Amino acid sequence: MGGALRRRDAGTVVTLGGWVHRSRDLGGLVFLDLRDREGVVQVSFNPEWTSADVIAQAADVGVESVVMVEGVVAERPVEMRNKDLGTGEIEVRATAIRVVGPATTPAIPVAPAKDGKPPAEELRLRHRVLDLRRPELARNLQLRHRLMQVTRGYLNDEGYLEIETPILTKPTPEGARDFLVPSRMHPGEFFALPQSPQIYKQLFMCCGLDRYYQIARCFRDEDLRADRQLEFTQIDIEASFIGREDILAMAEGLVAALWLEAGHAVELPFPRMTYAEAMERFGCDRPDLRYDLEITDLTSAFGRSESAIIQQALAAGGRVRGIRVPGAAGWSRKQVDELEAIAKGAGAGGLVRLKQVDGKVEGPLAKFLDEGAQRALGLADGELLLAVAGPDRVSSPALDRVRQECAERLGLVDDGVRRFLWVLDFPMFLQDPDSGALAAVHHPFTAPNAEDMAAHPGDPSRWRALAYDCVLNGMELGGGSIRTSDPAVQSRMFTLLGIPDAAEQERRFGFLLEGLRAGAPPHGGIAFGFDRIAMLLAGAASLRDVIAFPKTTAARALFEGAPSRVPDEDLKELHLRTRDPE
Ligand code: AMO
Repeated sequence: MGGALRRRDAGTVVTLGGWVHRSRDLGGLVFLDLRDREGVVQVSFNPEWTSADVIAQAADVGVESVVMVEGVVAERPVEMRNKDLGTGEIEVRATAIRVVGPATTPAIPVAPAKDGKPPAEELRLRHRVLDLRRPELARNLQLRHRLMQVTRGYLNDEGYLEIETPILTKPTPEGARDFLVPSRMHPGEFFALPQSPQIYKQLFMCCGLDRYYQIARCFRDEDLRADRQLEFTQIDIEASFIGREDILAMAEGLVAALWLEAGHAVELPFPRMTYAEAMERFGCDRPDLRYDLEITDLTSAFGRSESAIIQQALAAGGRVRGIRVPGAAGWSRKQVDELEAIAKGAGAGGLVRLKQVDGKVEGPLAKFLDEGAQRALGLADGELLLAVAGPDRVSSPALDRVRQECAERLGLVDDGVRRFLWVLDFPMFLQDPDSGALAAVHHPFTAPNAEDMAAHPGDPSRWRALAYDCVLNGMELGGGSIRTSDPAVQSRMFTLLGIPDAAEQERRFGFLLEGLRAGAPPHGGIAFGFDRIAMLLAGAASLRDVIAFPKTTAARALFEGAPSRVPDEDLKELHLRTRDPE
């Protein structure tokens, strides 16, 4: 309550509870900044209105202790007002104080340091109770709460039912690893934590529940990054008797409502791009459209070059693709070498570099290009051309990374700009170039495009999927698809994915197939990464700043100290024994 006091409250007698944010003792005159979830208020202890023993008590309280204070709200003299504080026009003139929760010396400061920098993240996570007292994180969690309520409000109004799905479930293959939970009652058997509620939400459609949503916890034992956690939250949605356009319109409305809650108007509808176009122009399926630096096909310009490396790449069926970077002709050799290292890190053999200075094309390969070929590069003065020769599956990821790095260097990545995008028509499968094995790009329950199946019945690698991703500024916010509702088609998908045996299909996916066989409506859905949305709207740099107790990138919960070893007796009861790692 203290943090919410304003000038209109002047004259009110109040009893406030809160944490001592800062304390100043000016010799007989004590000021405590008292913090609660609404903010900080100044409490002043002054012989004019406070007894000497209360002043002495106040002078003794350590920071971060919990106190109850009695006093009167008073307007501050004009010259003492603080414009940076919501409560800056008032103070509380204290008449009594009681320490109800004394604190030991805090391991990390809660009040901002002079340089404004928070403590190191590892320390913050280790002492998360103190960290979460920081107004910035408290604000993030409050925003997260509001975004959850907006989600519920929007989907409730659209007629969706909020239904929970099990946490102890059966392994589902979604391209990431399961967390397993041993069963005490059934030796040697395991539950899996859900990677997503995918199969259950499809079963709800088979049950006739028609429109489902859940703010669902998902678990994936993946390598972590700033935008990935082991345990994360999805806004998970499924609906029946709908097509792609219905889902996209509903999802855009939800995104607009969420962004509006954070004070941003979003223009609808979102632009769209096919997967093929995104890969061709940007080398990735979630392009950041805040800047250009598009990839172009330079094969014809390089086709006549006498460079052996290029000719080899072209002979193997590859292309030469590259990015023209305006104003980068002056980058040092070292700077360009760094870009080459990035391209190599992404799998390219090297990075071709050419620049145009005073109308002249320069660079190691320039001598292999005749005048016509040089002109065909389309370079302007001051531009640097960075190119990769090889198959698209090599050049796309390399140029994607190089493009992002160039944009960073040129200062083109503007956090104030929002470029939403739907990426559509993903391929159904990705084929391993060596083994020929197919893997589902989205997941095995996504419906293939029927026209593609009819046109190329024997070549599933050419089928597109009825899948869509929602992308913002290069980040995947959500993804979904129209599902296969025909059990025979679903069974065929499993066969193509390397599970031809009917008994094995039943063992692994019988519960889905049974639902589909019982009479399945056409259905589809989407799931948004809720933490990612909260992170973007809070202006945070990491998911860890919008999750109360997150895991570190080393996959540990530092505050709780998890994972941890358990006593042998406990393992025995679960019929388990540990082995030292090999
Ligand atoms: P998908 O796997 O694309 O789809 O996940 C949907 C969205 O969830 C978010 N996300 C994550 N967020 C934080 N940490 C992670 N480790 C993590 N992994 C994914 C992303 C992603 O876009 N069942 C399907 C959805 C469907 O088809 O309806 C699914 O889970 O923002």
